[in-house]
Amino acid sequence: MFRLTILIFLLSLATSISAQECVTCHEKVTPGAVADWKLSRHFSEEITCDDCHGDEHSSAADVQKVLTVTAETCSGCHPDRFDQFEAGKHALAWTVLKSMPTTHFKPMELIDGQKGCGGCHKIGLKSEEAVAEMKKNGSTFGHASCDSCHTRHTFSVAEAREPEACATCHMGFDHPQWEMYSTSKHGIRHALKRDGILPETASAPTCQDCHMPDGDHEVRTAWGFLAVRTNGLERYPGESDQWWADRVTILMALGVLDPDGKPTARLDLVRDAQVARLSAKEFDLERAKMIKACSKCHSENFAREEMAKGDSLIEQIDHLMAQAIREVAGL
Ligand code: HEC
Ligand code: HEC
Ligand code: HEC
Ligand code: HEC
Ligand code: HEC
Ligand code: HEC
Ligand code: HEC
Ligand code: HEC
Repeated sequence: MFRLTILIFLLSLATSISAQECVTCHEKVTPGAVADWKLSRHFSEEITCDDCHGDEHSSAADVQKVLTVTAETCSGCHPDRFDQFEAGKHALAWTVLKSMPTTHFKPMELIDGQKGCGGCHKIGLKSEEAVAEMKKNGSTFGHASCDSCHTRHTFSVAEAREPEACATCHMGFDHPQWEMYSTSKHGIRHALKRDGILPETASAPTCQDCHMPDGDHEVRTAWGFLAVRTNGLERYPGESDQWWADRVTILMALGVLDPDGKPTARLDLVRDAQVARLSAKEFDLERAKMIKACSKCHSENFAREEMAKGDSLIEQIDHLMAQAIREVAGL
């Protein structure tokens, strides 16, 4: 028993020395990374470099032995957050990127490197095989997903709670959520709170308050990017004949339905990558979560009315779009 205790003691000494060795050398090699780690909760919890990167590498000569960090690395210690993340839309960001036919014509740097489309879509989870394949083709970094909002090596929860954590990706022409939010009353009040003009306790929702209530890492909206909802192959309950006809036209133009209105193989893609909400239940669940989030500050009536205006805009835009498609098809 005594010998065993000594052995365990020596073993623990051995690992703590190697963890310390990483730090000592990296204080010279990458001082910024070590300084950030020292600011992190991981440091105070004694989570060391080797917990994420492995302990195989010990010098400039064997850098290739460093383990690739993926969301799986974090999941060992943060299983709940991983499970939530995996169930949400962010986890599918890599899948949707790869399912775009044009992706394969782009330079590797813009997809598998951390630039262009890949710079944002790397938030998505990749299969082990996909990572191995990419590493064979020369990509070493950018497979961790979880460092998208709490960046390495501070891995700060305070950083992830601020709307700027989302801004690096949710901005610009395609998805200007940052521009919309930061110039809305919600965003302005949040900014004024940080400037100390409004008191800290004044209410002002962040992206996270609405999209990650209670810190839930499973993000998904009712409409989504494509703004299509159906109930199986039928219309979402309560929608008008006109709206349903317009939507069918749009789905045909997208090749999700064939000219006879029958589903094509593309529908499977849409379903697998959750690009559209294909059951009323799925849509209603997300809508209910959102109304609940608004109701922390607004009346439910107010929230429902605002949402209904958004829905109505989509209906009117679908109509314009469908008319255009019909006219072009007619030509
Ligand atoms: C004797 C010095 C030394 C020790 C000890 C050391 N490293 Fe390194 N490490 C390096 C050097 C040099 C590089 C390459 C840096 C560069 O390219 O600028 C590197 C690179 C890395 C990288 C980046 C990988 C890459 O492909 O660029 C990680 C992660 C890393 N080390 C983690 C660790 C961990 C974890 C330990 C302890 C188990 C450790 N290091 C121990 C010197 C060391
Ligand atoms: C070996 C276990 C371990 C691994 C691996 C690990 N963590 Fe942690 N992490 C902890 C512990 C312990 C805490 C402190 C308790 C808590 O907040 O859950 C923590 C805290 C955190 C926090 C809260 C920080 C704060 O400011 O309060 C974040 C965010 C975090 N980890 C993210 C990550 C991410 C991302 C990864 C993967 C890249 C990761 N962790 C890998 C153990 C680990
Ligand atoms: C600046 C970050 C960024 C870049 C660069 C970027 N995307 Fe995206 N992409 C996003 C965000 C954020 C969303 C989700 C937007 C939303 O729901 O409004 C998205 C959504 C998508 C979707 C729809 C996913 C769905 O299920 O609804 C596809 C497909 C897509 N992007 C492909 C691409 C391709 C291809 C490129 C490169 C030409 C690209 N993206 C470049 C951030 C980016
Ligand atoms: C909680 C997990 C975790 C811990 C602990 C951790 N790292 Fe990292 N490290 C990461 C992640 C995630 C990345 C990004 C990996 C990628 O993009 O492939 C990374 C990347 C790196 C890189 C290469 C990328 C760059 O930005 O240069 C170096 C060097 C590095 N870490 C050094 C260290 C050192 C030294 C320590 C200890 C002081 C450490 N790491 C501790 C998770 C961790
Ligand atoms: C006051 C609550 C609220 C805040 C704050 C908020 N959103 Fe939203 N967001 C919504 C609502 C409501 C929708 C539409 C949901 C639906 O489909 O019913 C939406 C839709 C979205 C969508 C998907 C639909 C689309 O436009 O393509 C994304 C992505 C998104 N928000 C990201 C963000 C980001 C990033 C921020 C912060 C910069 C943010 N949101 C701030 C409530 C909010
Ligand atoms: C879209 C941004 C985003 C991504 C991506 C993200 N997180 Fe978080 N994370 C947050 C936010 C926001 C919080 C703060 C939640 C709260 O207010 O309680 C948080 C909190 C945490 C915490 C702090 C302790 C806790 O449980 O509240 C841990 C640990 C954590 N995340 C782990 C992870 C892991 C592991 C991943 C990858 C599977 C991940 N996060 C990906 C935004 C993100
Ligand atoms: C590294 C880039 C990146 C960051 C950072 C990021 N996102 Fe995203 N987000 C994306 C991409 C890419 C998608 C599209 C994924 C898909 O649809 O498959 C997306 C999708 C979403 C969706 C789902 C929209 C839908 O179609 O229903 C929501 C909601 C969302 N993000 C909110 C946030 C919030 C809130 C934050 C900050 C806490 C954040 N994101 C941070 C890249 C990012
Ligand atoms: C954390 C509290 C909070 C949450 C959650 C919240 N809001 Fe607000 N909202 C406010 C405050 C405060 C204002 C500014 C009120 C004013 O302009 O007098 C505001 C303003 C607005 C406005 C501008 C019109 C007006 O009355 O001034 C709209 C529209 C709005 N909110 C809709 C929503 C919707 C929809 C949701 C849910 C998706 C939501 N809000 C969630 C606090 C919140």
